[in-house]
Amino acid sequence: MSDQVIRIGLCGFGVVGQGVFNHLKRRKEALGEQLGARLEVTRIAVRDTSKSRDFEFDPSVLTTDALSIASDPEIDVLCELMGGTDKALAVTLTALKAGKTVVTANKALLCDHGAEVFDAAREGGGHVLFEASVAGGIPVIKAIKEGLVVNRFSSIYGILNGTCNYILTRMTNEGGSYQDILREAKELGYAEADESLDVDGIDTAHKAVVLAYLAFGRWVPYSDLLVEGIAAVTQDDISYARENGYAIKLLAVIDLAHASGKLYISVLPTLVSKRYALGSVDGVFNAVSIHGDVVGETVYIGPGAGRDATASAVIADVVDAAKLIGKKDCGGFIDPAPKGGHLIELAEPEEIMSRYYVRLQVLDEPGVMAEVASLLAEHQVSLASVTQKEVAEGAKDASLIMTTHFTSERALLEAVKSLEKCDRVQGKPFSMPISTFED
Ligand SMILES: NC(=O)c1ccc[n+]([C@@H]2O[C@H](COP(=O)([O-])OP(=O)(O)OC[C@H]3O[C@@H](n4cnc5c(N)ncnc54)[C@H](OP(=O)(O)O)[C@@H]3O)[C@@H](O)[C@H]2O)c1
Repeated sequence: MSDQVIRIGLCGFGVVGQGVFNHLKRRKEALGEQLGARLEVTRIAVRDTSKSRDFEFDPSVLTTDALSIASDPEIDVLCELMGGTDKALAVTLTALKAGKTVVTANKALLCDHGAEVFDAAREGGGHVLFEASVAGGIPVIKAIKEGLVVNRFSSIYGILNGTCNYILTRMTNEGGSYQDILREAKELGYAEADESLDVDGIDTAHKAVVLAYLAFGRWVPYSDLLVEGIAAVTQDDISYARENGYAIKLLAVIDLAHASGKLYISVLPTLVSKRYALGSVDGVFNAVSIHGDVVGETVYIGPGAGRDATASAVIADVVDAAKLIGKKDCGGFIDPAPKGGHLIELAEPEEIMSRYYVRLQVLDEPGVMAEVASLLAEHQVSLASVTQKEVAEGAKDASLIMTTHFTSERALLEAVKSLEKCDRVQGKPFSMPISTFED
């Protein structure tokens, strides 16, 4: 092995940081042989230096000053594994401006500040590598950047949050309410104490924004995405899905709207056919389907989070970063940002066509169905099927489950708003797209 040492600064020594440290140490010899250089973690930043850690390490490498690692001329590669968007941004920009390569797992940072971060890399002559930011251990970023480089993409569909997929899978396989299964998921460590980033679809949306940049070269502001989480999914929806050959998945859709060629991104609970690959991806697994014009569809499935899976992706980037040291070129990555060209336009909701599922709680009295159908017709939403769940003796309201023919997202959203205002509709209607990927 050569005497060259690549010095790595870990900013963050929590779940992911310690995983990276552990596996770099375990595979030190093999990685060194492959690279012709030794990878050494020489500095580590944490918030609390007195906390006990899961692996043995030299405490003299610890600091609470992450910025000092970012500006340290002795550090070759900085791994930003702190999370958050304030300190993480400052650390990332400082390191990039100093010409270092930054490896990050931080999708929230990239979603909110991606353009600034990539500009800083171009200016500083360093690189940003972010395999671990989307779909954890699945090398999907590398697939888009390298393996599929000749392709123009038309769509990417993703199950990108293991917590949501775990909850929906258990609701399907075992019954039980969303709230009960969420509580158990927290007890088992599959969901955070504050679950909102996961179950409200925010984490999935951050990842969708990163994938959209890679495939279509535009950082789409989070506020331009339609994002709904899984909290409103009930056993009525799960039963409908099961009886009709679907699974409910929290699905990120990054798609060129068919008629207009404009870019559309959403994160919504979706009825996905069990005949389609993504309809059978269960538990904490993630899956990504990518459509390229040369290769066709490729599908990637694997663990989307966790210490070891995420460390696997971070270390792949660290190895690439080591190969890039001293190189000013793109390291094989064709930057998707258009140079002087115009940005791809975003699709309007009236340009997005889908079939939809709608569930309503209505007063069980004559004329309700006619009123609902007429409200939908006012918005040009035409019904394909209607089912009313059998009402228990004495119950005042009933659950109506409807599916629509192809209609625009705008028409559906406006129809649902009108239904919500209707006196005989109880509570908030629930709707989701019905996927047609397998058709
Ligand atoms: N966990 C996963 O499965 C997973 C998967 C994919 C991506 N990610 C991403 O990876 C990143 C890290 O996640 P994680 O789960 O490892 O988080 P974590 O367990 O909470 O660890 C965060 C680490 O950063 C340190 N830290 C936080 N703020 C700091 C500051 N201002 N200065 C210095 N150190 C600071 C913490 O120090 P203390 O230890 O002293 O508190 C801790 O060591 C996040 O961006 C996350 O979204 C995580």
